[in-house]
Amino acid sequence: MTSTKKKKSLYSLYKGVYVPSNLHHPQSLQNYEDFTFRRDDVIIVTYPKSGTTWMKEIVPLVVSRGDPASVETLQNWDRVPWLEENRAWDLELENRPSPRIFATHFHYNMMPQGFFKVKPKVIYVMRNPKDVFTSSFHYYGIASFLVHPGSQGEFLQKFLDGKVMFGSWFDHVKGWLNAEDKERIMYISYEEMIMDLKDSVTRIAQFLEKPLESEVIEKIAECCLFKNMKQNKMSNYSAAPREFLDQRKSEFLRKGIAGDWKNQLTSDEAEYFDSVYKVTMKDVMYKFIWD
Ligand code: A3P
Repeated sequence: MTSTKKKKSLYSLYKGVYVPSNLHHPQSLQNYEDFTFRRDDVIIVTYPKSGTTWMKEIVPLVVSRGDPASVETLQNWDRVPWLEENRAWDLELENRPSPRIFATHFHYNMMPQGFFKVKPKVIYVMRNPKDVFTSSFHYYGIASFLVHPGSQGEFLQKFLDGKVMFGSWFDHVKGWLNAEDKERIMYISYEEMIMDLKDSVTRIAQFLEKPLESEVIEKIAECCLFKNMKQNKMSNYSAAPREFLDQRKSEFLRKGIAGDWKNQLTSDEAEYFDSVYKVTMKDVMYKFIWD
């Protein structure tokens, strides 16, 4: 007898992009839609694998003026919850003191009405898409809630077509670069943070109107170095169950460098990537650090 039981799909389509079904129940997406933002909320916005976890370390440290407890007492997914995910709604976010810090992978045009009304501050982190691809390829191989990447060539095509979680990198970046109320958005790249973390922390503190003494900036930058974050059990995902995230295959905090695509893509793949990038980004005036 053949089984008639249908296999549950790993992704659902929400506002035109794939979201992992396990983490995004319809009710949590609705809660996000109805969420009451505060003007002084800080929202870290990223396309996945662009430096979300890094920023989830930096911002709480800036807001707490370098207090290590801000990153040592709560797992990063509870410290800075993703507003679209199920977990967020058990955390009584309305009772958190200001400034609350949240994260989202949503595209600009997916943001809820309340966001456009209240206009909280946004820190948008971008990363060279070839490195986003590289990081994603490893990550999709260890995360049981994502569709297995298949071969590198197959995953490359899916990535360029936006047939991956949270859709197209190109649409995400273009949408947020075209956002209104730019004075409420800070754009920063992973590569700038790699090049000069102290300067990046200083600029983030200025944007958040928390000017900090240079010793505090230094302390925060030190704490957020890749090698130090890797030791922080509240940030290195060691608490995530293995059946969810199998870090024996590849660690979440994997390499933490800029330009790893050179070790991953063949020259044909890199050339193909560049040709798609050139066409898709031709109307974008923003000067990316990796161009
Ligand atoms: P790699 O896989 O290239 O190492 P996200 O948090 O958006 O999922 O992004 C994860 C990527 O950011 C991973 O990239 C991870 O290693 C990197 N990352 C996290 N913390 C970092 C840090 N302190 N310094 C440099 N890279 C960091």
